[in-house]
Amino acid sequence: MKDSVREKIEKYHQEHLLDYMSRLDEAGQSRLEEQLENIDWTLLDLLQAGEKKRTRGTFSPIGAVSIEAIAKKKVEYTEAGLAAIRAGKVGALLLAGGQGTRLGCTGPKGSFNIGITHDLFIFEQLFANTLEVVRQAQAWIPFYIMTSDKNHEDTVRFLTEHHFFGYNGEYVKFFRQEMAPSTDFEGHLLLEAPDRLALSPNGNGGWFTSFEKAGLVEDAKERGVEWLNCFAVDNVLQRIADPCFIGAVLDGGYTSGAKVVSKADPEEHVGVLCLEDGRPSIVEYYESSHEMNYARDPEGNLLYRFGVILNYLFRIDRLQSQEGERMPVHIVEKKIPYIDPDGTLHKPEKPNGYKFETLILDMVHRMDDCLAYEVEREREFAPVKNKTGVDSVETARELLKKNGIEL
Ligand code: UTP
Repeated sequence: MKDSVREKIEKYHQEHLLDYMSRLDEAGQSRLEEQLENIDWTLLDLLQAGEKKRTRGTFSPIGAVSIEAIAKKKVEYTEAGLAAIRAGKVGALLLAGGQGTRLGCTGPKGSFNIGITHDLFIFEQLFANTLEVVRQAQAWIPFYIMTSDKNHEDTVRFLTEHHFFGYNGEYVKFFRQEMAPSTDFEGHLLLEAPDRLALSPNGNGGWFTSFEKAGLVEDAKERGVEWLNCFAVDNVLQRIADPCFIGAVLDGGYTSGAKVVSKADPEEHVGVLCLEDGRPSIVEYYESSHEMNYARDPEGNLLYRFGVILNYLFRIDRLQSQEGERMPVHIVEKKIPYIDPDGTLHKPEKPNGYKFETLILDMVHRMDDCLAYEVEREREFAPVKNKTGVDSVETARELLKKNGIEL
């Protein structure tokens, strides 16, 4: 074993790995060793330092451009957005590296079929939404797709077989996000096979680093792309590269924008856009106090009412200027399948360890400003997170139908 790996094992008290290693043949040992060489060990420092609780600054409400205000300037914003798209300045960036564990589908979440009487795959709906803008602008929009080791091959195969659902394949580029290790509650690295660490995608906040490592900042520059519209795979009503949104951000001279919806009720489980020490920031529902949830303005509106729907516009040069600054790492308790030293696989029923994730919502706090752009929930927000109940296949189908999409 290389000295560098042995030193890490000792430094981070991971001697249990030696036990696993000793049961492997030479090829297995070198596979595991290679993984150990490549993981980000400093994540374990965070665990040791007990950085589970983040200290936050002082929050205050943020203003938004309201649905009514947008309606008044719709033509102007839309024209400005279309001009930017025609000039090749806008790219779409689909975050599709997640595992979709709540939905529990086999294969990438985007390949989930939400149709009833005919096939309608999530990816198909997202491309259809983008194609509407392509037709309006009469210009193709570069479409970047982030995958992870868990779903890369399946995603590429699925989309290639379906000819990108009519999208121009020359404008579609894939890149993989990085993987992070997982540990048990004592901080011991878990293995998912005798010669393999239990690795999982490192959260959607790592997208820019991975995008850059894949040489795609260069690709974007060559194409003249200055802005990226980042969005989640699971919102089937997602407006992608929405010209009106782009126009509003450009018109206001902002460096970023976030689509928001008014919270349905004070306790809704949604991240809220606000200001933190004067900078834009998102407070997750589990971080938000009762006081913050229920505070109202003199008109009776919730003060912190702008829930984010994972649709952001970022200026690439602003993201580049923050390179080197580490994103906050969220240490999350999860159910992590693992093998014991005898090689028996366990699939826990309740959380048994930690995963390490960075989140795209933390990127907003690094921007100087962020336009909160309010949209109608019923027209733009139909996330498919769960099989049934809230934010599920059922609710998304209802919303698709309401928006005139035949299922
Ligand atoms: P979610 O937080 O809903 O996670 O991701 P998920 O993996 O899709 O689903 P669960 O939590 O396992 O049920 C929001 C968006 O971020 C992407 C997802 O693909 C989705 O578009 N994502 C998430 C990544 O691209 N990478 C990640 O590591 C995590």
